[in-house]
Amino acid sequence: MSITRPRGVNDLLPETTAKWREVEALLHLMAEEYGFGEIRTPIFEQTMLFARGVGETTDIVQKEMYTFNDRSDRSLTLRPENTAAVCRAYLENKLYGQAANHKLYYLGPMFRYERPQAGRFRQFHQFGLEILGTKSPLADAEIIAFACDFFRRIGVDDLKVHLNSVGCPNCRSAYRSLLQDFLQPNLDALCGDCQNRYERNPLRILDCKKEACALHYQGAPKISDHLCAECAEHFEQVQQLLAAAGLKYVLDTGLVRGLDYYTKTAFEIRSEAIGAQSALCGGGRYDGLMAEIGDKDIPGIGYAMGIERVFQVLAAVNQDIEIDNHPDAYIISIDQPEAQKSAFALANDLRKAGLKTELNFEAKSIKAQLKAANNAKAAWAIIIAENELAYGKATLKNMANSEQLELPFGEIRAFLFGA
Ligand code: HAM
Repeated sequence: MSITRPRGVNDLLPETTAKWREVEALLHLMAEEYGFGEIRTPIFEQTMLFARGVGETTDIVQKEMYTFNDRSDRSLTLRPENTAAVCRAYLENKLYGQAANHKLYYLGPMFRYERPQAGRFRQFHQFGLEILGTKSPLADAEIIAFACDFFRRIGVDDLKVHLNSVGCPNCRSAYRSLLQDFLQPNLDALCGDCQNRYERNPLRILDCKKEACALHYQGAPKISDHLCAECAEHFEQVQQLLAAAGLKYVLDTGLVRGLDYYTKTAFEIRSEAIGAQSALCGGGRYDGLMAEIGDKDIPGIGYAMGIERVFQVLAAVNQDIEIDNHPDAYIISIDQPEAQKSAFALANDLRKAGLKTELNFEAKSIKAQLKAANNAKAAWAIIIAENELAYGKATLKNMANSEQLELPFGEIRAFLFGA
């Protein structure tokens, strides 16, 4: 039996990676335009980082982490997300001492042991932004603006920004009791996970996707109605900033993100095109995270977007990423050492000049090789056969209109640049 890839992961083949690179290039460009610097953290971290950072009671930590002991019996985990790791790196490298705030971005694989389904994988890829060191609502608005700007630039406009404030530990402790009082009469009807969450983290119950639970939290008190003065003011300012930039959003008082570190702003961008359940991206403020994983109480805000979800929504709205990676020249030669030497030397000459050049390796007929040039969507086929060799020339065929001309080898490069 041949070996296959593990469940829930993908092979990205050249046609796909070319499109991914276009999207990635746009994200790198935009991050630069907005003044973010790239950070690359390890693929694995100490398990404790996510347990403390993401939260012991979250699904991610309880059910979804790829955790293993290394040969020295240290518990390590493949990163299920990158915010905790970026904060760890920011603290460990003492970036806070260098500037008032830092704007960082990342792009790379994350790992979660989730049930694979459309748009949900066990290895997936996130692009994310984090602004560390500021409490300003401008930073919240900037993150949301960036997320929207990206979708605008790739031509996806069937979107909704869901916005909420999940408050801070101050407002949450009073709200927590209110919520527990509301849920108490139906506690037995909630799923096992939610019964566990009831004491440890009742807010997470509002994020349970099981119908039985959803039935019982409908009509629950809303955190946004119980914000302290500081959180309410911050939320108001974020909304005013979004409005000032003409960014539309819907207030979604039921939005509770699946990670525990959020404070104040929480948001997700969803598209009906791929089903309202799966977010294209999500994020929020996490003012307590760095105090939780380190020894500095420094605020932060950010978001992350799944690259697979980007392609899912593009397909759903019938958009595609146009790729132009077709060769400028496709060199064809007969199966004869002299012809192959000339072909190889010419290919090197053209490549040195920066022309995309392909060389046919197979000893096939000229006709078959021309077909291959056509399949590769080459602009020009360059043919080196007996006749050409005898006169030190090659035949150039314009693949768009089939016109042909002969040129000495030394003139081909200049001709193709002018063509
Ligand atoms: P998250 O909501 O867990 O947030 O993930 C962010 C995005 O990653 C999701 O909206 C989705 O597009 C994608 N995603 C998550 N899980 C999967 C999966 N199994 N398969 C495919 N795509 C997936 C975070 O990870 C936070 N770190 C975001 C953040 C950054 N908050 C503040 N800063």
